[in-house]
Amino acid sequence: MPAVVLIGAQWGDEGKGKATDLLGPRLDYVVKFNGGNNAGHTVVIDGDKYALHLLPSGILTPGVIPVIANGVVIDLEVLFEELDGLSRRGVDVSNLRVSANAHIITPYHRVLDRVTERFLGKRQIGTTGRGIGPTYADKINRAGIRVQDLFDKNILQQKVEGALEQKNHLLLKVYNRRAIGVTEVVDELLSYVERLRPLVADTSLLLHQALNRGETVLFEGGQATMLDVDHGTYPFVTSSNATSGGAVTGSGIAPNRIDRIIAVVKAYTTRVGAGPFPTELCDEWGEFLSERGHEFGTTTGRRRRTGWYDAPITRYCARINGVTDFVLTKLDVLTGLERIPVCVAYEVDGNRRDEVPVSQSDFHHATPIYQEFPGWTEDISGVRTFHELPVNAQNYVLALENMGGTRISAIGVGPGREQIIVRHDLLG
Ligand code: GDP
Ligand code: IMO
Ligand code: MG
Repeated sequence: MPAVVLIGAQWGDEGKGKATDLLGPRLDYVVKFNGGNNAGHTVVIDGDKYALHLLPSGILTPGVIPVIANGVVIDLEVLFEELDGLSRRGVDVSNLRVSANAHIITPYHRVLDRVTERFLGKRQIGTTGRGIGPTYADKINRAGIRVQDLFDKNILQQKVEGALEQKNHLLLKVYNRRAIGVTEVVDELLSYVERLRPLVADTSLLLHQALNRGETVLFEGGQATMLDVDHGTYPFVTSSNATSGGAVTGSGIAPNRIDRIIAVVKAYTTRVGAGPFPTELCDEWGEFLSERGHEFGTTTGRRRRTGWYDAPITRYCARINGVTDFVLTKLDVLTGLERIPVCVAYEVDGNRRDEVPVSQSDFHHATPIYQEFPGWTEDISGVRTFHELPVNAQNYVLALENMGGTRISAIGVGPGREQIIVRHDLLG
C-alpha cells in the first residue's frame, strides 16, 4: 500500500496526529502537504505528550523521513524552534526534508493576519494569527517568498521590496500601523539560511522515487474537510486545500498514485474559531464534551466549540475526499451518557435536507434532526477488540459506519498510542 492520504473529516483536531503516529512504524515517509503552524497535533507516547505544529507527526517515529512539501507555508522561526525542542527530548530530526517550492511566512504576514482580523470586528474568522491566510494570498497573487528565494540575496531583496511596497501602504494608511523595513525582513530570513540549506530538496522527485521503489508514503493533512478553502464553510475556513486533492497539488505526486484515503473523525464534533456549526451545544452537554474530551486547542489554547456527531458531514467528507477508511476517535469521551444524539439530516426553512447544503446561508440556518442511541457506562479505555466493547458502543459505531457509507477501520478509546481498536488493517 504505497501512497496513503490521511485527512480530517470535520473542523480539525480529530486526532490525525495520533492516527499518523499509530501507522508510523510501517511508514517510510510522512509528508505534510498543506497549512503551516496553524495545525496542532498532540501525540502521547508512553505518557509523554508531544505537541507538533509545523512538523509532520511522523517525525516521532525513528527511521521515518518527514517531508514538508510545496503546499505548506513555513514560519522558519517555528520550524527551528520545533526541531530544537524535539532534539532536546531525544527525537532524531536529522531526516527532515523541505521543499524548495514551499512558501515562507514572513513578519509582515503575521502582522497582516492579526490586523485584518481586528478590522473585521464581529465578522472575524478567529484565525490562529500565525500569518497563514496572508501567506497563501501572496502565493496565489504571485507575490510570495519561496524557500528557494532565500538562497539568492538579490532575488530575496527584490521580492521583499515588491511585497512591502504595497503592504506598507496598507499598514500605514488603512490599518494605522508602522511600516515594516525591507532590511529587517531580509535579515531575519537570511539568519536561517545556513540551517535551512541542508534540508532543502526536490521533494516531489524524492517522493516519486520512493513510490517507485515500493516504499510507503503517508500524506498527513493539516486542518480538515470543513476548513478546506474550496469545500469547507467558506469564508470560515483556512486558506489551503485540506482535502485529499490537496495531497496531490501540495506534494507534486500524481492523483493516480494514491492507493488509500483515510479520514479521521471524532465520535462527536468540535470546532475552533467562528462559522456555522449545526450540532453545536451551548449547554451542559457541550460543557460535558469539552471537559471530558479536554477540548482546548493545541495551538492557541482556545476552548473548542463542541456538539454531537453530524452524519451528513461525514458523508460529505467521504464524497469530497474519496475516503476508503474512517478512523473514529474519542469514543471513550461519550462513556457515561445515557443517550447519545446523532444528527442524521438537517431541517432548512421547514424542509428536510439529507446532505450538507451547498449554500452557506442554508448551512447557517440548518437545524439538526437527531436520532438518539442508547449509551454505555463501562470504562472502554482498556478495550482493544471490537467485540469487547459494550453492545451499545458497538451499535453506536455500526450506526455511524452505516450513515457514513464507508467502513470504520479503527476506533480510538484514549489519547495513548496503544489505545486503539483496529478492525481492518489501514495499510493492508
Ligand atoms: P489533530 O490536530 O487532528 O492531530 O488532533 P489534536 O491533537 O489537535 O486533538 C486531538 C486530541 O485528542 C489530542 O489531545 C489527542 O491526544 C486526543 N486523542 C486522540 N485520540 C483520542 C481518543 O481516542 N480518545 C481520547 N480521549 N483522546 C484522544
Ligand atoms: P489541526 O491540523 C482546528 C481554524 C482556525 C480558524 C480558521 C482559519 O490541528 O486540525 P487560520 O489560522 O488557518 O487562517 O485560521 O481555521 N483552524 C483550525 N482549527 N484545527 C486546526 O488544525 C486548525 N487550523 C486552522 O481556528 O477558525
Ligand atoms: Mg489539532
